[in-house]
Amino acid sequence: MTRVDACIHRNLQSDIMMIPAIGHYIVHSGGKRLRPLLCLLIARLFNYRGDRHIPLAVVVEFIHTASLLHDDVVDSSDQRRGNPSANGVWGNQASILVGDYLFSRAFQMMVADGDMAMLKLMSDVTNALAEGEVLQLSRTFHLEMSEAECLEVIERKTAVLFKAAGEVGAHVAGQSEHTIARMAEYGMCLGVAFQLMDDAMDYLVASEEAGKPVGHDLEEGKITLPLIHAMQSDPALVERVHTIAERGGYADDDKSWVRERVEAAGGSTFAMQRANDYASRAKSLLPDVDSAVCKLLADLADFSAHRRI
Ligand code: IPE
Ligand code: IPE
Ligand code: MG
Ligand code: MG
Repeated sequence: MTRVDACIHRNLQSDIMMIPAIGHYIVHSGGKRLRPLLCLLIARLFNYRGDRHIPLAVVVEFIHTASLLHDDVVDSSDQRRGNPSANGVWGNQASILVGDYLFSRAFQMMVADGDMAMLKLMSDVTNALAEGEVLQLSRTFHLEMSEAECLEVIERKTAVLFKAAGEVGAHVAGQSEHTIARMAEYGMCLGVAFQLMDDAMDYLVASEEAGKPVGHDLEEGKITLPLIHAMQSDPALVERVHTIAERGGYADDDKSWVRERVEAAGGSTFAMQRANDYASRAKSLLPDVDSAVCKLLADLADFSAHRRI
């Protein structure tokens, strides 16, 4: 991971000063680096001894970082990782453009790696990610959102990148198609658990703990699993959510009222149980070997479904 950080640092260099300034601000603000960690651990699980996994892990982290720069603009979010978000400091335009820079730098790095299979994988992933975000946008205040639709958004906007991290690690280590597919599925399930937990935290934790705004998903029209579940048993909540949707945002005590009702109806607990199911499925896909790396990968799946950060 030290080498990943050094590689990140090298690849943020540009003579256009705003690029390293914003780049460093965001990548040195305490992101968990979970996706590159998965790449490295999976490569190590299969005893990979080369160097390709380092820049490829950075590619995955850059795509993630770019998507956060864009996401905070789209979600009108002013806080990220406990700090003001880049759009809050430099404005929307700078965040979008530096996000574009990171995407294109990621593709330059893949070309340098020179493996068409990796280029195909990552171009498919960024495409799915963009589709996922657009799909979510097109479902703004879509109060009839089903659990299945919600999971489709989650798979596309978040889990695909975790899936890619799994695939990259197994691919560089020269594993069979079958093994690569298993590790891809491990990443996918872990990624779904991770986003379900994120959606639960939006109703559950304080913003100081999350390092980003909470109670914000509904405000932005995102109908996530905790709310979907809670609305099934609480007609007063459905009515209030309709009012919020018609108004296009919160008024008065909407935020705290909705959060309390979702909690009382067991919305977050339900989403966390689902997250746990996905984490268990992820663990079941790991090879049956008694190694420290395998144990770490199992722990990361559990972390994704129990995290508070
Ligand atoms: C945040 O991802 C975006 C989601 C997919 C929920 P992370 O929680 O992995 O972000 P950092 O990089 O650790 O801040
Ligand atoms: C994940 O969704 C964002 C991306 C996949 C880019 P969220 O919008 O829930 O992520 P946070 O909560 O802002 O980190
Ligand atoms: Mg967001
Ligand atoms: Mg979120």
